[in-house]
Amino acid sequence: MTEILQTPKLITVFGGSGFVGRHVVRALAKRGYRIRVACRRPDLAGHVQPLGNVGQIQPVQANVRVRWSVDRAVEGADHIVNLVAILHEGGRQRFTTVHEFGARAVAEAARAAGAGLTHISALGAAHSSPSIYARTKAAGEKAVLDTVPDAVIYRPSVIFGPEDAFFNRFAGMSRFSPFLPLIGGGTTRFQPVFVGDVAEAVARSVDGAVKGGTIYELGGPQVKTFRECMEEMLQVIGRDRVLLTIPWWAARIQASILGLLPNPLLTPDQVTLLQSDNVVSKAAEEEGRTFDALGIQPQSTASILPTYLWSYRPAGQFTRKNNET
Ligand SMILES: NC(=O)c1ccc[n+]([C@@H]2O[C@H](COP(=O)([O-])OP(=O)(O)OC[C@H]3O[C@@H](n4cnc5c(N)ncnc54)[C@H](OP(=O)(O)O)[C@@H]3O)[C@@H](O)[C@H]2O)c1
Repeated sequence: MTEILQTPKLITVFGGSGFVGRHVVRALAKRGYRIRVACRRPDLAGHVQPLGNVGQIQPVQANVRVRWSVDRAVEGADHIVNLVAILHEGGRQRFTTVHEFGARAVAEAARAAGAGLTHISALGAAHSSPSIYARTKAAGEKAVLDTVPDAVIYRPSVIFGPEDAFFNRFAGMSRFSPFLPLIGGGTTRFQPVFVGDVAEAVARSVDGAVKGGTIYELGGPQVKTFRECMEEMLQVIGRDRVLLTIPWWAARIQASILGLLPNPLLTPDQVTLLQSDNVVSKAAEEEGRTFDALGIQPQSTASILPTYLWSYRPAGQFTRKNNET
């Protein structure tokens, strides 16, 4: 019997070198796809190549603000994943150009190439939001669906996992600070979602197993306030720290000063974002636009946080018993 060998499908992942990107790339590589990782600095994206077999993953240069570089990265691809976003503006990286113009550029290139499209947005994306991050994310979603009506869009809540910028940041802070800030009292509600579950959702969309033209909202199994997230993190790393309420007005002043730094810890727009809950909406649950529809059972923080936050414990991987260590 003659076996016909087919070349594996080629997937271009914009932003594949970032936090979510590396998990998406790993999930796609496991499925046997060829992957092109498109980012501005492929020279700094060497960490993605060992996530697959030799030659399976190729970093390429592309900037979503530069249309010809997007077209070049999409050439010959069967499916496009767009993970590009910024948390704060700097230089030419503006929210509008990256989230809206960039999303449209990627969608137009996908349409021209006849490739499928999976776009990652964020919970809270809304045209009426007081946050420019959320407004431009909504504009990006619109640009995507106007251009590729059967695109799959995912809106995750805060994402946790080994390289996250949320639990790692506060766990790192607790190593030297006797207190942790609770902006606005820490009452904002989140639905933390494991990066591996988001990556699986993307991979299923690339497989063609997800209904297109739909915005899915991705949240983990539990809703937790910011305070509860901090308490759980402190318990996992075995440290006692004072949780200090920072009133909204004080956080805003602090953010206006920090926001002037090149890589700010907090910006006024992030304070605005924190003033709204970041959880899966009732509408998404009722309309079946959640993990359930994708056949994925999301993992909890309780099962995952200890697997990577151990490095912040006073004794690392070793537990202290009766002051033995
Ligand atoms: N992390 C979360 O908690 C969270 C929550 C909700 C939604 N999301 C969404 O998930 C997606 C991925 O987030 P992430 O946390 O993985 O972000 P990330 O770690 O900051 O990664 C961003 C990626 O985008 C690339 N990039 C930035 N500007 C670019 C440009 N102009 N052109 C091309 N590539 C560019 C970066 O590489 P270069 O700098 O080398 O270009 C990097 O690969 C985003 O859409 C984000 O909004 C994340």
